[in-house]
Amino acid sequence: MVPVSKERNGSQKEIVKMAEKYELKAENVYKYFGGLKALDGATVLVEKGKLTSLIGPNGSGKSTFFNVITGYLDYDEDDANVQFQVHDIGNDEPAEIANKGMVRTFQHTRNFPKMTVLENMLVSPKDQAGESILWVFLGKPLWKRQEAKFVVKAMTILKFLEIDHVVDHLAEELSGGQQKLLAIGRLLMTQPSLLLLDEPVAGVNPTLANKIFDRIIQLKDTKGIDVLLIEHNMDVIMAFSDEIFVLADGKVIAQGTPEEIQANRKVLDAYLGESPDEA
Ligand SMILES: Nc1ncnc2c1ncn2[C@@H]1O[C@H](COP(=O)(O)OP(=O)(O)OP(=O)(O)O)[C@@H](O)[C@H]1O
Ligand SMILES: [Mg+2]
Repeated sequence: MVPVSKERNGSQKEIVKMAEKYELKAENVYKYFGGLKALDGATVLVEKGKLTSLIGPNGSGKSTFFNVITGYLDYDEDDANVQFQVHDIGNDEPAEIANKGMVRTFQHTRNFPKMTVLENMLVSPKDQAGESILWVFLGKPLWKRQEAKFVVKAMTILKFLEIDHVVDHLAEELSGGQQKLLAIGRLLMTQPSLLLLDEPVAGVNPTLANKIFDRIIQLKDTKGIDVLLIEHNMDVIMAFSDEIFVLADGKVIAQGTPEEIQANRKVLDAYLGESPDEA
């Protein structure tokens, strides 16, 4: 952290304190696809200790927002200010961002279908972004030396997520909900401090959806892992969110508590008669 000089102590301390209030500040994010403004200066702030949600109709730019701030897509315009734990991550690659503790799931789950659940879990420590299978080509002795420690850790996480009974199953054999849990489990192998979850309960039955949310809340409350959540299921959004940002056509049109968002006319208009529960 920048040393604070005595003369300017008061004001700078205030500024640092304000900045530290946020786990993530992603301000003025733009992304264009040809003539389409997928993100039009969107700003989303994630306060420490709060479950923050990003909602909006289909195609409003939610996944694109994750893709840009996690380094998978370039920013358009130069106006963005994106800070994770007070450090600028605007020019970082996906793996660098993941290594710093900000990790994400994808709307379409990206586990390794032909690997077992345990093998999937063991990819993560070697490859924090979870995108390559380079580890397969690493010398086995090196990998083996670390294996026992990671297996214990993986089993603890799988137990916590209640999918330890399918540890030897191929990922492709799991139900949709179990695959979503596995994706979260793989993130937990990396000791993250912020989880970005893109529709973690889409297509999951209500009982399992509630269980997944119960686990997410436990991670937040007991391990201090912050969460930024994209989700269409309004029941869980309204029940579990502390703060909600609403995107429409790439712009944040509302921010507030579940009660404030539910009473906001602009939000209802954005959904244009489309029932949020069914979106
Ligand atoms: N790689 C891409 N190339 C071109 N257009 C894209 C690309 N990715 C997204 N888009 C477009 O950008 C807009 C925002 O898409 P995005 O996937 O971010 O929406 P979303 O809010 O996540 O929607 P959903 O709720 O359906 O997942 C959409 O019009 C989409 O078609
Ligand atoms: Mg999406």
